Amino acid sequence: MSNYHIKQFEEYFQVYRKSVRNPEQFWEEIAEEHFVWRKKWDNVLSWDFKKPEVKWFEGAKLNITENCLDRHLPTRGDKTAILFEPNNPNEDAEHITYKQLYARVCKFANVLKEKGIQKGDRVCIYLPMIPELAISILACARIGAVHSVVFAGFSATALSSRINDCDAKMVITSDGSYRGPKTIDLKGIVDEALNDIPGIQSVLVAKRINSNINMKAGRDYWLDPLLEEAYSDCNAELMDAEDPLFILYTSGSTGKPKGMVHSSAGYMVYTAYTFKNVFQYRDNDVYWCTADIGWITGHSYIVYGPLANGATTVMFEGVPSYPDFGRFWDIVEKHKVTQFYTAPTAIRALAKQGTEHVEKYDLSSLKVLGTVGEPINEEAWHWYDENIGKKKSPIVDTWWQTETGGIMITPIPFSTPTKPTYATLPFIGIQPALMDESGNEINGNQVEGRLCIKFPWPSIARTIWGNHQRYKDTYFSAYDNMYFTGDGALRDEVGYYRITGRVDDVIIVSGHNLGTAPIEDAINEHPAVAESAIVGFPHDVKGNALYGYVTLKDSGEGRNHDNLRKEINQLITDRIGPIAKLDKIQFTVGLPKTRSGKIMRRILRKIACNETDQLGDTSTLLNPEVVDDIIKNVV
Ligand code: WT7
Repeated sequence: MSNYHIKQFEEYFQVYRKSVRNPEQFWEEIAEEHFVWRKKWDNVLSWDFKKPEVKWFEGAKLNITENCLDRHLPTRGDKTAILFEPNNPNEDAEHITYKQLYARVCKFANVLKEKGIQKGDRVCIYLPMIPELAISILACARIGAVHSVVFAGFSATALSSRINDCDAKMVITSDGSYRGPKTIDLKGIVDEALNDIPGIQSVLVAKRINSNINMKAGRDYWLDPLLEEAYSDCNAELMDAEDPLFILYTSGSTGKPKGMVHSSAGYMVYTAYTFKNVFQYRDNDVYWCTADIGWITGHSYIVYGPLANGATTVMFEGVPSYPDFGRFWDIVEKHKVTQFYTAPTAIRALAKQGTEHVEKYDLSSLKVLGTVGEPINEEAWHWYDENIGKKKSPIVDTWWQTETGGIMITPIPFSTPTKPTYATLPFIGIQPALMDESGNEINGNQVEGRLCIKFPWPSIARTIWGNHQRYKDTYFSAYDNMYFTGDGALRDEVGYYRITGRVDDVIIVSGHNLGTAPIEDAINEHPAVAESAIVGFPHDVKGNALYGYVTLKDSGEGRNHDNLRKEINQLITDRIGPIAKLDKIQFTVGLPKTRSGKIMRRILRKIACNETDQLGDTSTLLNPEVVDDIIKNVV
């Protein structure tokens, strides 16, 4: 009925009011009218943020792939579901129809079963942006296996720790990947990761670059011959509403990455509903999100949200700079893309190239532009609006997180008046709150505080895999009865929200969430290093870049610091991945510490940001003299 598709600003307010006055009734209507269920729920919502526990649609039985595939077959079987655009622009794009996708997912699901994967087992997926990535995700969901996708830019160490953490039985990978002009030996990285994990029963290998790789007998299998023999129908496993659908790791400010667990029913309902409205998707549109499926943006808004709506979703294997900086716009023109969703860092990188690459292409198909991942600065917003949207395509600045599963604060295009750098208003059903440091809610407008959410929404992550206590400590302990986001935000005079950035030790670099602790751990592994501290500083393309302060065991006389810098960055690349490399490394005589021995990152941040006039009182430090020394030697 009407509430599924919001078309006007007035309507947004009406539906919003309804959704917060009576959330159960609201979400029940949406769930009832727009999804297929094998059995309806007994209870719409039960929740307790103190435990914390949230359950939506308890008692319901479903399979998300029946909503993403089966139900579309009679009406849009021959419509393109996935439009695959390869890295090489001279290779043909592949149009995978709903019928074909259904058959490929079923075949893949049968291969998983044949290799012993059962409902509830964890399967780790380490693939580039090729159709097999989306297909393997859906195949897991088909049989009730819990997928855990690891972004294929992560290192062997990062991969193995994620495989271990969720105790995966199987890894799905490829012989390699294309990235612009380069190829990457993904299988080699998997082999290295699995050196210490004998428990892995099988590795399925998709063929992409035809490289000569090592296949371990009895463990590694080429996918193609298995798929060829597999049957193209596979019964969808009956899942409980609250059964886990997937695990996706995200960095925390301390400790190892957190395996966020998402459920089946609530996640499906919320991602589908947000997709429809935030992108105003209509039947013949061609929607393109440039994220990698290895991040939550790809899970929710390349795979599940679009497919649940029967949409055509573009999957791009390559990078924005190959063969040149016009590639995105070439793809928009070629496939007549109607919705385009990307990250501020990509916009800044493209803006830097000027408009010559943009002007060559016809972008008139575009209707809605989106951004996600970090605050978008005003300059990038205007560049996007003027040069890509030609001032006629609304920009949806969508704020959300791996933990929230779906978009939380966003304009509704053609309804909500946009405002540069503002994510504007809460989506339907979302109840934000700004909190002060002593735990009180800040009411009224023109205020700033820490962003919390007061009431559960269907796609909130249910726990951290294997560590519910950490889930409670991280998100539900800072403020009573609230989900704490870790972000700061302000609310302007009309109630629009602007996200100001992280208030914890997470730094967002090129839209990737990086915790400082794991990077410092990697640096400290270097035999010459005594200790280190990482902070972020502004960068014109990446948003933030990383500045590392490193104290050596001996004061470093006679050492070649440039070599040491390389070694440190190599360690970070090995332990985490190239995305976590430091832009600047300063060797220090010591790090500023409180009397209890805590490193004062606040001071280091000011120095890295060139704001030494705002250091505040440093006299209470244990070692104020190091601050002057650090300031003198900034790099
Ligand atoms: C953090 C979550 C979920 C999308 C990909 C990132 C920052 C995200 C915005 C935005 C300002 C944003 C926040 C958030 N963030 N979108 N539109 N404006 N900041 O997911 O890796 O879980 O990171 O990204 O700081 O907490 P993630």
